[in-house]
Amino acid sequence: MKTNPGGQLEIGEIIGRDKLVRRLWKVLEKRSLVLTAERRMGKTHVLKKMMATVPGGMLVIPDQLPRDLESIHTAAEFVERTFRDAETYLSRSNRYAKKTRDLLSKLGGAEISGVFKFPDQQPLPWKEILSGTIEDLMENQKKPVVFFWDEMPLMLFNIAQNQDKQTAMQVLDILRYLRQTHQNLRMVYTGSIGLHLVLSDLKLAGHANDPTNDMATVELPPLEHRDAYELATMLLNGENITADNLEETANEIASSVDRVPFYIHHVVDQIETRGDFATPELVEEIVLGLLTDPHDTWHMRYYRERIDTYYPPQDRPIALSILDNLSKSDGVVPFHDLFDLVKSQISTEDRETCLRVVTLLLRDHYLTQAKNGHYAFRLNLIKRSWRVQRGL
Ligand SMILES: Nc1ncnc2c1ncn2[C@@H]1O[C@H](COP(=O)(O)OP(=O)(O)O)[C@@H](O)[C@H]1O
Ligand SMILES: [Mg+2]
Repeated sequence: MKTNPGGQLEIGEIIGRDKLVRRLWKVLEKRSLVLTAERRMGKTHVLKKMMATVPGGMLVIPDQLPRDLESIHTAAEFVERTFRDAETYLSRSNRYAKKTRDLLSKLGGAEISGVFKFPDQQPLPWKEILSGTIEDLMENQKKPVVFFWDEMPLMLFNIAQNQDKQTAMQVLDILRYLRQTHQNLRMVYTGSIGLHLVLSDLKLAGHANDPTNDMATVELPPLEHRDAYELATMLLNGENITADNLEETANEIASSVDRVPFYIHHVVDQIETRGDFATPELVEEIVLGLLTDPHDTWHMRYYRERIDTYYPPQDRPIALSILDNLSKSDGVVPFHDLFDLVKSQISTEDRETCLRVVTLLLRDHYLTQAKNGHYAFRLNLIKRSWRVQRGL
């Protein structure tokens, strides 16, 4: 198998995740799902594997790849996209979303050479169109239907920026309403910026409800070590790289990047550009090189920049101080010690705010909480990168 960091893999190249995929399908028998993890952890590829192993009796929309919502900027665009995805399924059995088409025709839409053109009328009654689409779909077949929506929070963030926060919230609200109305309707949302960031902003703007509290939230972990090792081995072999001890080298690759598949592809890719022989020392040298790379090939600055993009200004210094201090600590740190460290850098007595920011950092995958309640960076690689970036 050849390296392909960041590319779209064939199903057979998606290593591991099988147990998880089975578990997620089990969840979907009963509830909708939010799959969350850091960028590049492999969410989209988990969805692809799920969509390649749909249990009999379930229908997925779209039918092969999840719908990527990243480029959608308005509620109306989302509704049009969903209408088209639903109709693609219906048209395969010579059916169509009749009630919705009638409504759209009344608003000025029309079928032109086999393609239904959406009305130009603004503003479009998008909620009505969305409800109608789902009703048409659910009436036309008996199976449970699962919509796969990738990068939902990015779309909501776009809508909040481009339209307003209320509209973003209304999209989530109506989707929840539809889940409650149609027993057989399921949704899968994924995203790397947490929905909570978009939502907490909305909460500040006066909404109190949580429109995903009926869904199961599952955090996608790195690969299991066995699978990470297997991926590294397959890539080394696929790139014809030799080593005195291939097993040791593959193990080193897997652990030095915390078993994150994207980075495993990257490290083997780098080994290949340097020659055809690998050692654990070369792996370490490559990882260090990428962490200090002025061109930031691994986009590690994103972890620092994200704080400014998504965190409210008053939370930012606290978040930075928490991360700075944890990046310098070897083990896990209890909250009272962490709060003391923060207070030694920032003049604050606001324990509640500090606790709230810690929770945000947990939900944004920066941190993890040990069983004893103490905190640490979730990934050692990000911790190392944080120290490098912050000159610590
Ligand atoms: N299970 C896997 N096996 C092998 N490579 C993977 C796997 N999951 C992800 N990758 C690699 O990591 C990259 C990023 O995965 P992706 O699913 O796009 O992450 P996310 O959606 O979480 O940002 C892929 O392009 C691929 O190179
Ligand atoms: Mg993705």
